Amino acid sequence: MPEPKDLIEKAERYLKQQQEMYGKFSVSLSNTDEKNDTVEQSDDIKRPGSPQSKAKRELTQDEKIAACQTLDELKSLCKNADELKTDLQGTNLVFGVGDPKADLIVIGEAPGYNEDQQGEPFVGEAGQLLDKIMNAINFSRDEIYITNILKHRPPNNRDPKQEERQRSLPYLLRQIELIDPKLILCVGRISATTLLGEDTSLSKLRGEFHSFHGRELMATYHPAALLRNPKWKRHAWEDVQKLRKRYNELGGK
Ligand code: URA
Repeated sequence: MPEPKDLIEKAERYLKQQQEMYGKFSVSLSNTDEKNDTVEQSDDIKRPGSPQSKAKRELTQDEKIAACQTLDELKSLCKNADELKTDLQGTNLVFGVGDPKADLIVIGEAPGYNEDQQGEPFVGEAGQLLDKIMNAINFSRDEIYITNILKHRPPNNRDPKQEERQRSLPYLLRQIELIDPKLILCVGRISATTLLGEDTSLSKLRGEFHSFHGRELMATYHPAALLRNPKWKRHAWEDVQKLRKRYNELGGK
Protein backbone atom coordinates (compact mmCIF):
# COMPACT_ATOMS: atom_id res chain seq x y z
CA MET A 1 0.00 0.00 0.00
CA PRO A 2 1.61 3.36 -1.01
CA GLU A 3 2.12 5.96 1.73
CA PRO A 4 -0.41 8.87 1.59
CA LYS A 5 2.57 11.24 1.21
CA ASP A 6 3.73 9.34 -1.92
CA LEU A 7 0.23 9.42 -3.38
CA ILE A 8 -0.02 13.18 -2.83
CA GLU A 9 3.39 13.72 -4.44
CA LYS A 10 2.34 11.56 -7.39
CA ALA A 11 -0.91 13.51 -7.82
CA GLU A 12 0.93 16.84 -7.61
CA ARG A 13 3.46 15.73 -10.22
CA TYR A 14 0.65 14.61 -12.49
CA LEU A 15 -1.32 17.86 -12.17
CA LYS A 16 1.82 19.90 -12.81
CA GLN A 17 2.50 17.94 -16.00
CA GLN A 18 -1.10 18.50 -17.12
CA GLN A 19 -0.80 22.24 -16.44
CA GLU A 20 2.43 22.38 -18.44
CA MET A 21 0.63 20.70 -21.33
CA TYR A 22 -2.75 22.44 -21.20
CA GLY A 23 -2.16 25.71 -19.32
CA LYS A 24 -3.48 26.64 -15.89
CA PHE A 25 -6.80 25.16 -14.88
CA SER A 26 -8.74 24.24 -11.82
CA VAL A 27 -10.80 21.09 -11.82
CA SER A 28 -14.07 21.19 -9.93
CA LEU A 29 -15.26 17.74 -8.99
CA SER A 30 -18.99 17.55 -8.89
CA ASN A 31 -20.57 15.91 -5.84
CA THR A 32 -23.09 14.10 -7.98
CA ASP A 33 -22.49 10.93 -9.98
CA GLU A 34 -22.51 12.95 -13.15
CA LYS A 35 -19.11 13.51 -14.65
CA ASN A 36 -18.12 17.15 -14.93
CA ASP A 37 -16.96 17.84 -18.45
CA THR A 38 -16.11 21.50 -18.03
CA VAL A 39 -13.23 23.43 -16.43
CA GLU A 40 -13.08 26.91 -14.99
CA GLN A 41 -10.49 28.93 -16.82
CA SER A 42 -7.95 30.71 -14.66
CA ASP A 43 -7.70 34.54 -14.79
CA ASP A 44 -4.93 34.67 -17.36
CA ILE A 45 -6.95 32.78 -19.97
CA LYS A 46 -10.43 34.17 -19.22
CA ARG A 47 -12.14 35.89 -22.09
CA PRO A 48 -11.36 39.63 -21.99
CA GLY A 49 -14.25 41.81 -20.93
CA SER A 50 -15.63 39.42 -18.32
CA PRO A 51 -13.09 39.55 -15.50
CA GLN A 52 -15.58 38.52 -12.82
CA SER A 53 -17.33 35.77 -14.66
CA LYS A 54 -15.97 32.28 -14.23
CA ALA A 55 -15.67 31.31 -17.87
CA LYS A 56 -16.38 27.63 -18.37
CA ARG A 57 -15.46 25.69 -21.44
CA GLU A 58 -15.85 22.11 -22.63
CA LEU A 59 -12.92 19.84 -21.84
CA THR A 60 -10.93 18.85 -24.90
CA GLN A 61 -10.85 15.14 -25.69
CA ASP A 62 -7.25 14.94 -24.40
CA GLU A 63 -8.35 16.52 -21.12
CA LYS A 64 -11.25 14.07 -20.85
CA ILE A 65 -8.80 11.20 -21.37
CA ALA A 66 -6.45 12.62 -18.74
CA ALA A 67 -9.36 13.10 -16.31
CA CYS A 68 -10.28 9.39 -16.39
CA GLN A 69 -9.28 7.93 -13.05
CA THR A 70 -10.38 4.33 -13.63
CA LEU A 71 -10.44 1.87 -16.50
CA ASP A 72 -14.25 1.91 -16.35
CA GLU A 73 -14.30 5.67 -16.90
CA LEU A 74 -11.85 5.33 -19.78
CA LYS A 75 -13.92 2.51 -21.28
CA SER A 76 -17.06 4.69 -21.18
CA LEU A 77 -15.16 7.47 -22.94
CA CYS A 78 -13.93 4.99 -25.57
CA LYS A 79 -17.49 3.81 -26.20
CA ASN A 80 -18.45 7.28 -27.40
CA ALA A 81 -15.20 8.06 -29.22
CA ASP A 82 -15.77 8.14 -32.98
CA GLU A 83 -12.05 8.60 -33.58
CA LEU A 84 -11.43 5.05 -32.35
CA LYS A 85 -13.60 3.57 -35.10
CA THR A 86 -12.30 2.27 -38.40
CA ASP A 87 -14.10 2.47 -41.74
CA LEU A 88 -15.91 -0.79 -40.92
CA GLN A 89 -19.40 0.18 -39.76
CA GLY A 90 -21.16 -1.22 -36.69
CA THR A 91 -18.19 -2.77 -34.88
CA ASN A 92 -18.07 -3.29 -31.12
CA LEU A 93 -15.57 -1.72 -28.76
CA VAL A 94 -12.82 -4.18 -27.75
CA PHE A 95 -11.31 -2.33 -24.81
CA GLY A 96 -9.19 -4.87 -22.97
CA VAL A 97 -9.43 -7.70 -20.49
CA GLY A 98 -7.66 -8.99 -17.40
CA ASP A 99 -6.36 -7.73 -14.08
CA PRO A 100 -6.81 -3.92 -13.98
CA LYS A 101 -3.71 -3.74 -11.79
CA ALA A 102 -1.64 -6.28 -13.73
CA ASP A 103 2.14 -5.99 -13.73
CA LEU A 104 2.24 -7.22 -17.34
CA ILE A 105 0.26 -5.83 -20.29
CA VAL A 106 0.21 -7.67 -23.59
CA ILE A 107 -0.60 -5.42 -26.54
CA GLY A 108 -1.65 -6.76 -29.93
CA GLU A 109 -2.64 -5.04 -33.11
CA ALA A 110 -6.40 -4.87 -33.60
CA PRO A 111 -9.49 -7.00 -32.99
CA GLY A 112 -10.47 -9.54 -35.64
CA TYR A 113 -13.90 -11.06 -36.36
CA ASN A 114 -14.16 -13.17 -33.18
CA GLU A 115 -12.87 -10.38 -30.96
CA ASP A 116 -15.39 -7.94 -32.45
CA GLN A 117 -18.22 -10.42 -31.89
CA GLN A 118 -17.26 -11.12 -28.29
CA GLY A 119 -15.93 -7.65 -27.36
CA GLU A 120 -12.76 -9.27 -25.99
CA PRO A 121 -9.20 -9.27 -27.38
CA PHE A 122 -7.41 -12.43 -28.49
CA VAL A 123 -10.23 -14.96 -28.35
CA GLY A 124 -9.71 -16.56 -31.79
CA GLU A 125 -7.06 -19.01 -32.92
CA ALA A 126 -4.20 -16.55 -32.36
CA GLY A 127 -5.64 -15.85 -28.92
CA GLN A 128 -5.56 -19.52 -28.00
CA LEU A 129 -1.90 -19.65 -28.93
CA LEU A 130 -1.27 -16.50 -26.91
CA ASP A 131 -2.89 -18.18 -23.89
CA LYS A 132 -0.65 -21.24 -24.35
CA ILE A 133 2.47 -19.06 -24.58
CA MET A 134 1.48 -17.17 -21.43
CA ASN A 135 0.61 -20.41 -19.60
CA ALA A 136 4.04 -21.77 -20.51
CA ILE A 137 5.61 -18.93 -18.49
CA ASN A 138 3.09 -19.39 -15.69
CA PHE A 139 0.63 -16.61 -16.39
CA SER A 140 -3.08 -17.24 -16.60
CA ARG A 141 -5.19 -14.90 -18.71
CA ASP A 142 -6.68 -13.19 -15.65
CA GLU A 143 -3.29 -12.44 -14.05
CA ILE A 144 -2.22 -10.19 -16.93
CA TYR A 145 -3.97 -7.50 -18.97
CA ILE A 146 -4.53 -7.90 -22.71
CA THR A 147 -5.43 -5.16 -25.16
CA ASN A 148 -4.72 -3.88 -28.67
CA ILE A 149 -3.47 -0.75 -30.38
CA LEU A 150 -6.86 -0.38 -32.12
CA LYS A 151 -10.07 -0.78 -30.15
CA HIS A 152 -12.24 -1.53 -33.19
CA ARG A 153 -11.88 -4.08 -35.96
CA PRO A 154 -10.52 -2.89 -39.31
CA PRO A 155 -12.29 -4.15 -42.45
CA ASN A 156 -11.04 -7.46 -43.89
CA ASN A 157 -8.51 -7.63 -41.05
CA ARG A 158 -6.25 -5.22 -42.90
CA ASP A 159 -3.31 -3.65 -41.08
CA PRO A 160 -4.31 -0.65 -38.97
CA LYS A 161 -3.55 2.56 -40.82
CA GLN A 162 -1.02 4.98 -39.40
CA GLU A 163 -3.70 7.62 -38.68
CA GLU A 164 -5.94 5.04 -36.95
CA ARG A 165 -3.05 4.03 -34.70
CA GLN A 166 -2.24 7.65 -33.86
CA ARG A 167 -5.89 8.36 -33.02
CA SER A 168 -5.96 5.38 -30.67
CA LEU A 169 -2.67 6.10 -28.96
CA PRO A 170 -3.80 8.71 -26.36
CA TYR A 171 -6.43 6.25 -25.09
CA LEU A 172 -3.97 3.38 -24.96
CA LEU A 173 -1.38 5.52 -23.15
CA ARG A 174 -3.93 6.43 -20.47
CA GLN A 175 -4.96 2.77 -20.24
CA ILE A 176 -1.33 1.85 -19.59
CA GLU A 177 -0.94 4.65 -17.01
CA LEU A 178 -4.05 3.53 -15.12
CA ILE A 179 -2.97 -0.11 -15.04
CA ASP A 180 0.59 0.94 -14.19
CA PRO A 181 2.32 -2.32 -15.19
CA LYS A 182 5.97 -3.14 -14.64
CA LEU A 183 6.33 -4.64 -18.12
CA ILE A 184 4.76 -4.32 -21.54
CA LEU A 185 4.86 -7.08 -24.15
CA CYS A 186 4.09 -5.99 -27.71
CA VAL A 187 3.12 -8.86 -29.93
CA GLY A 188 3.83 -8.14 -33.57
CA ARG A 189 5.47 -5.39 -35.56
CA ILE A 190 2.44 -3.05 -35.67
CA SER A 191 2.18 -2.97 -31.90
CA ALA A 192 5.92 -2.56 -31.27
CA THR A 193 6.55 0.09 -33.93
CA THR A 194 3.48 2.11 -32.95
CA LEU A 195 4.52 2.30 -29.33
CA LEU A 196 8.24 2.75 -29.93
CA GLY A 197 7.71 5.20 -32.80
CA GLU A 198 10.32 3.39 -34.91
CA ASP A 199 9.49 2.13 -38.37
CA THR A 200 11.60 -1.00 -38.45
CA SER A 201 11.29 -4.76 -38.63
CA LEU A 202 10.19 -6.90 -35.73
CA SER A 203 13.40 -8.92 -35.93
CA LYS A 204 15.33 -5.73 -35.07
CA LEU A 205 13.11 -4.93 -32.07
CA ARG A 206 12.36 -8.34 -30.57
CA GLY A 207 14.07 -9.99 -27.66
CA GLU A 208 15.41 -6.81 -25.99
CA PHE A 209 13.94 -4.48 -23.40
CA HIS A 210 13.19 -1.00 -24.70
CA SER A 211 12.49 2.01 -22.54
CA PHE A 212 8.92 3.26 -22.88
CA HIS A 213 7.59 6.16 -20.77
CA GLY A 214 9.65 5.01 -17.81
CA ARG A 215 8.68 1.35 -18.22
CA GLU A 216 10.29 -1.63 -19.89
CA LEU A 217 8.86 -2.92 -23.14
CA MET A 218 9.67 -6.16 -24.93
CA ALA A 219 8.54 -7.07 -28.44
CA THR A 220 8.05 -10.54 -29.83
CA TYR A 221 6.25 -12.30 -32.68
CA HIS A 222 2.50 -12.04 -33.04
CA PRO A 223 0.86 -15.44 -32.34
CA ALA A 224 -0.84 -15.30 -35.78
CA ALA A 225 2.64 -14.99 -37.34
CA LEU A 226 3.76 -18.01 -35.29
CA LEU A 227 0.82 -20.01 -36.64
CA ARG A 228 2.00 -19.17 -40.17
CA ASN A 229 5.73 -19.61 -39.45
CA PRO A 230 6.26 -22.20 -36.70
CA LYS A 231 10.03 -21.89 -37.11
CA TRP A 232 9.83 -18.53 -35.27
CA LYS A 233 8.42 -20.23 -32.18
CA ARG A 234 11.92 -20.88 -30.82
CA HIS A 235 12.69 -17.12 -30.85
CA ALA A 236 9.33 -16.32 -29.28
CA TRP A 237 10.01 -18.88 -26.55
CA GLU A 238 13.39 -17.27 -25.79
CA ASP A 239 11.74 -13.83 -25.66
CA VAL A 240 8.98 -14.77 -23.24
CA GLN A 241 11.35 -16.63 -20.95
CA LYS A 242 13.44 -13.46 -20.74
CA LEU A 243 10.24 -11.53 -20.04
CA ARG A 244 9.24 -13.86 -17.19
CA LYS A 245 12.72 -13.60 -15.65
CA ARG A 246 12.59 -9.79 -15.75
CA TYR A 247 9.05 -9.82 -14.32
CA ASN A 248 10.31 -11.82 -11.35
CA GLU A 249 13.35 -9.56 -10.91
CA LEU A 250 11.09 -6.49 -10.87
CA GLY A 251 8.95 -8.08 -8.16
CA GLY A 252 5.88 -8.65 -10.35
CA LYS A 253 3.01 -10.19 -8.42
N1 URA B 1 -4.88 -10.21 -33.26
C1 URA B 1 -4.63 -9.09 -32.54
O1 URA B 1 -3.65 -8.42 -32.75
N2 URA B 1 -5.49 -8.80 -31.57
C2 URA B 1 -6.55 -9.52 -31.28
O2 URA B 1 -7.28 -9.17 -30.37
C3 URA B 1 -6.79 -10.66 -32.05
C4 URA B 1 -5.94 -11.00 -33.04
